Amino acid sequence: MGLQQSDALDVERVREDFPILQREFDGERLVYLDNGATTQTPDPVVDAIADYYRTSNANVHRGIHQLSQEASIAYEEAHDTVAEFVGADGREEMVFTKNTTEAENLVAYAWGLRELGPGDEIVLSQMEHHASLVTWQQIGERTGADVKYIPVTDEGYLDMDAAAELITDDTEMVSVLHVSNTLGTVNPVADLADLAHDHDAYIFVDGAQAVPNQPVDVKEIDADFYAFSGHKMLGPTGIGGLYGKADLLDEMEPFQYGGGMIRKVTFEETTWHDVPWKFEAGTPVIAQGVGLAAAVEYLEDLGMENIRRHEERLAGYALDRMSEFDDIEIYGPTRAEDRGGLVSFNLDEVHAHDLTSILNDHAVAIRAGDHCTQPLHDELGVAASARASFYVYNTTDEIDALLEGVDSARELFA
Ligand SMILES: Cc1ncc(COP(=O)(O)O)c(C=O)c1O
Repeated sequence: MGLQQSDALDVERVREDFPILQREFDGERLVYLDNGATTQTPDPVVDAIADYYRTSNANVHRGIHQLSQEASIAYEEAHDTVAEFVGADGREEMVFTKNTTEAENLVAYAWGLRELGPGDEIVLSQMEHHASLVTWQQIGERTGADVKYIPVTDEGYLDMDAAAELITDDTEMVSVLHVSNTLGTVNPVADLADLAHDHDAYIFVDGAQAVPNQPVDVKEIDADFYAFSGHKMLGPTGIGGLYGKADLLDEMEPFQYGGGMIRKVTFEETTWHDVPWKFEAGTPVIAQGVGLAAAVEYLEDLGMENIRRHEERLAGYALDRMSEFDDIEIYGPTRAEDRGGLVSFNLDEVHAHDLTSILNDHAVAIRAGDHCTQPLHDELGVAASARASFYVYNTTDEIDALLEGVDSARELFA
């Protein structure tokens, strides 16, 4: 049965908002399964950005004139919309960044460089994306803090017994991803937050693959920081969100300096603006903020619980179909309910790049490589994997098309 009949989402109706999905390559209709890298942008979001530029474009915070006031209100309200979407109290807990990577760097620089020193420990997991792994590794090098890694079990889960031993009174920061962009695993971030807090450590949750795909409530998780990227949730590139607990963000020093983030400047010293503006130096991501708010409204209309069910169903279908073949190795948990909507795999001896290239000949777009998780791939014993990642407009028919492409590769390399 095609997912068009899914009770979770009216996929055919959703697809009408994404004209890009009608594109054909050499007569074959595009099958876009690279949503973990970036998602497509629906017409209402494109329209919101275009309308902003057509009717209200101006710089914010500085102007008395009408356009500047309109732009300022739209930009400020976008913070509230995005904050509410993830359960934050309001704009005082939601900083707009360029993406998840910048959010990670913001906390690492603004908090880590000042607060960490020799004897302190940063606890990451073996499945971290380079956005977190490389950033904290660098902060460790600069401050003398040690970086430790929660191991991943053979089944693709975080080893929570090991986590309980690794997180100690020396731990100052735990940084873990909510959903693995390689294994698909949904991690028990609320339990990790409890562990961190039991030892007076903070927890930073990388939600880049979670916020687009499931309901997220930062307060329920009790995250101290929580980050995500707009372009992975139907929004534009160039914008991400950093949630931080209000008192933490308030106490933190800025990350970057310049206009817009100050309250009073003299030749001798400067005082800072309120959060979030303190962390948004220079002309901020105004149009992108408007676009991200429109994306959030679009997702809310679809319903995050429906999206989660749809993704689980697609992941389950892909897992079932792929497990029919002995020559396909799948990474990560075997139970669809423990994963987000993506599946990484390898086809026997065929390199993931070759496989992806053959799929491209069939207009099927997936990703090949290490997915910015090189150390995890080392643990898996492979240099690369192929990854199919699903979203609101994908169907089981498209997963069948993926498997047909895999079959062509199988024949070619036999
Ligand atoms: C889990 C995870 N974290 C962080 C990132 C980095 O996101 P961005 O490139 O938008 O900063 C990604 C992107 O692939 C991701 O999947």
